[in-house]
Amino acid sequence: MQTLIIATRNKHKVEEIKSILGTEHFQFLTLDDLPDAPPIVEDGETFADNATRKSVGLIRWILANPEMTHKLEGKPAFVLADDSGLEVDALGGAPGVHSARYAALDTNAPGNSADHENNAKLMRLLGEIPLEKRTARFRCVLALTPIPPDEPGTSTPSEAALLQSTHFFSGACEGRITDAPSGKGGFGYDPLFVPDGYTASFAELGETIKNKLSHRAKALHELQRHFENAFN
Ligand code: IMP
Repeated sequence: MQTLIIATRNKHKVEEIKSILGTEHFQFLTLDDLPDAPPIVEDGETFADNATRKSVGLIRWILANPEMTHKLEGKPAFVLADDSGLEVDALGGAPGVHSARYAALDTNAPGNSADHENNAKLMRLLGEIPLEKRTARFRCVLALTPIPPDEPGTSTPSEAALLQSTHFFSGACEGRITDAPSGKGGFGYDPLFVPDGYTASFAELGETIKNKLSHRAKALHELQRHFENAFN
């Protein structure tokens, strides 16, 4: 049994990760179990940069808080961070790493934007562009960083050391952006994204199909293979 601390408060991501990895081999904690963990500034230039900021930042905070390491009871544990987003070809790959605060980029408002604001901006910018030119993909990069054992008298490992011990897993899901949102499931840009081979959006297709096709599912299957190779 491996303990994975998922470095997010996004309940949809947590549900997708738990449902794809399953609870047979993994025990999960999330940032909701670590309510005092500080927010991480996600100003990296790539998904991998931001995913590592989240995993390495959280581990350094855990190691600086003895009650947190105590909570892990000395069992081997990892932080798993997901950074993901949507790349639209007609917009030169935007919103990309800015997916979560795409609308806020125009106003400099702090924090992430509401999903409906991001979706409205995407609709506005794509305007009358025909469907065949609205190709896009979701991309996900997972960073998996082992939490080093807390040995008395040793100093907190540097960011560079934690980065070196990090494994990356990635996945992409190709599709198109529709001309109007449809469906109530999922989150983020799901109502606008129709994966290749389908005519309905991720928000209409529901979690069972999304969890078979998605960028996150592909990255998580790579992570599963990594654990199988490492521990079997
Ligand atoms: P992050 O939490 O910083 O990785 O931001 C990811 C952003 O990308 C989310 O806020 C969504 O807007 C978008 N995104 C990532 N994955 C998905 C997905 O599976 N469906 C819809 N939107 C997604």
